[in-house]
Amino acid sequence: MEKFVIHGGKPLHGTVQISGAKNAAVALVAATILCDEPCVLENVPEISDITKCMKILREMGAEVRLLDKNTIYFDTKGIEKPEVPYELARTMRASCYFLGTLLGRFHEAFVPMPGGCDLGDRPIDQHLKAFKALGASDEIVNGANHVTADELVGNQIYFDFVTVGATMNAIFAAVKAKGLTIIENAAKEPHIVDLANFLNSMGADIRGAGTDVIKIRGVDYLKGVTYATIPDQIEAGTYMVAAAATKGDVVIANVIPKHLESITAKLRKVGVNVEESDESVHVWVDGPLMKTSIKTMPHPGFPTDMQPQFSTLLTLAEGTSIVTDDIFDNRFRYVAELRRMGADISVDGKVAVIQGVGKLKGAPVVATDLRAGAAMVIAGLAAEGTTEIDNIFYIERGYEKIDEKLRGLGADIQRVYKPDANEMELSG
Ligand code: EPZ
Repeated sequence: MEKFVIHGGKPLHGTVQISGAKNAAVALVAATILCDEPCVLENVPEISDITKCMKILREMGAEVRLLDKNTIYFDTKGIEKPEVPYELARTMRASCYFLGTLLGRFHEAFVPMPGGCDLGDRPIDQHLKAFKALGASDEIVNGANHVTADELVGNQIYFDFVTVGATMNAIFAAVKAKGLTIIENAAKEPHIVDLANFLNSMGADIRGAGTDVIKIRGVDYLKGVTYATIPDQIEAGTYMVAAAATKGDVVIANVIPKHLESITAKLRKVGVNVEESDESVHVWVDGPLMKTSIKTMPHPGFPTDMQPQFSTLLTLAEGTSIVTDDIFDNRFRYVAELRRMGADISVDGKVAVIQGVGKLKGAPVVATDLRAGAAMVIAGLAAEGTTEIDNIFYIERGYEKIDEKLRGLGADIQRVYKPDANEMELSG
C-alpha cells in the first residue's frame, strides 16, 4: 500500500504549474461519445479518474490514444453498444456522464449506479428528471440505470436545486435532441462553461453557459476538433492554501484568476496576501492568520471542494471560525483525522466550529476522500514532525503528481510503499 510521508514545518516557496481541471476533463472525455469525428483533448490532467474514463471508452470499442501525457486522441465511432462496464463505472461519480452522452447519441444508455467520493447520499434524481423531460424513460436493471428514448425532443428543464452533474447531463442529452431545450436553475461552474465551449467548437448551439439559464438548439452533426481543458481551480486553490498554511511564498501558475475569486477573497480575509497576474496568483504570508466564517455555495460562491483544505488552514488561525457545508450530507469525515494532529474542531451536522491552535503535530492519518486527502497533505506540510498519510489513491484521483509538485516547492514529502496490516499477515 502506498503512503505519503511528510516531514512538516517547512515554508513552501517557488512556482507550481497547475494542470487541467479534473471536473472539466471527465465531462469532456465523456462528451467525445457525441462527436461524429475523431477529436483531441489537450491539457488533460494525468490522474486516475481520467485513466478510468479512457478504459471505459476503450472497453466500449472506442480508439483512445495518449499523444503525450496530457494530450489524448479519441475516435468513438467504434462504440456499438451503449453499455458501460460495471466494475469500472461503479468506482467513479463521473461515470454518470456516460448516461447523458450515450443517451444523446444512441437514444439508449446502460450505466451502473455511480460511485465516487463518499460524501453522503448522492442520488441522480435530477439527472433522470432532465432525461425524462426530453422524452426518455428509466429503469434500474441489475444495479444499473437503463435509460431509453424513441427520440429526444427539446423541452424546458427546471432543476429543483443547483446540481453540476445534472446540468452536465442535461446538456449531453439535449445537444442533438430535436428543437430547443431551456435549462433553468443551471449550475454555473467554470467546467460547465468549458463543456459548452468544447461542444460549440464542434458545431453545437449552446448559449448561456455560466448563467442559470442555458438554451440549447439540437444539431445533427458534431465535427472533430482539438480543444484544451481549462486549468483546475480546485488544484490551484489547494496550493494557495498550502502556501498559506506553511507561511510560504508561492506563485501558482497557469490559472484563470477569475475562477479563483471566492478562494482569493477568503484568503485575504484571514490575512493572507494574494496578488493576481494574467495567468498566475502570488500567495505569501507576513502576519498572523485570522478567524473567519465560511458557507459553501454553488459557483461563484465558495466551493465545497475547497472546504476541507480551508478548514485545515483555519485550525491554525487565531480565534474561532465557523464552517458550514450543506452541499453534501457529510463532508467533515476528515475532522477526526485532523484531531489526531491536535486540531480543535467540533462538528454538528453540516457545521464545524474550529478553535485555532498554535500548531499541528505530525501523526499517522488516512485520506477519507479526494479533497480530505488534500487537507491531510496540507496539515502534514504545516505540522511539526512527521505525518504518514494512508489511502493516497483517493488523492491520486484528482491531483497530478502532487508529491513531485510539492517537492518542487521545497516540501519534504516522499511516496513510500508500506505493506498494510493484512498484507503483513499474508507475508507473515
Ligand atoms: C460535482 O459532483 C463534482 N464532481 C464534485 O467534485 C463537486 O463537489 C460537486 O460537483 C459540487 O460542485 C465532478 O464534477 C465529477 P452536484 P456532483 O450534482 O455533480 C445532490 C471533487 O472533489 N444531488 O452538484 O455529484 C448531491 O447529492 C468532487 O472534485 C441530488 O440530490 O455534484 C449533492 O448533495 C467531489 N440529486 C448536491 O446535490 C441529483 O440528481 C450537489 O451535487 C444530483 C445531485
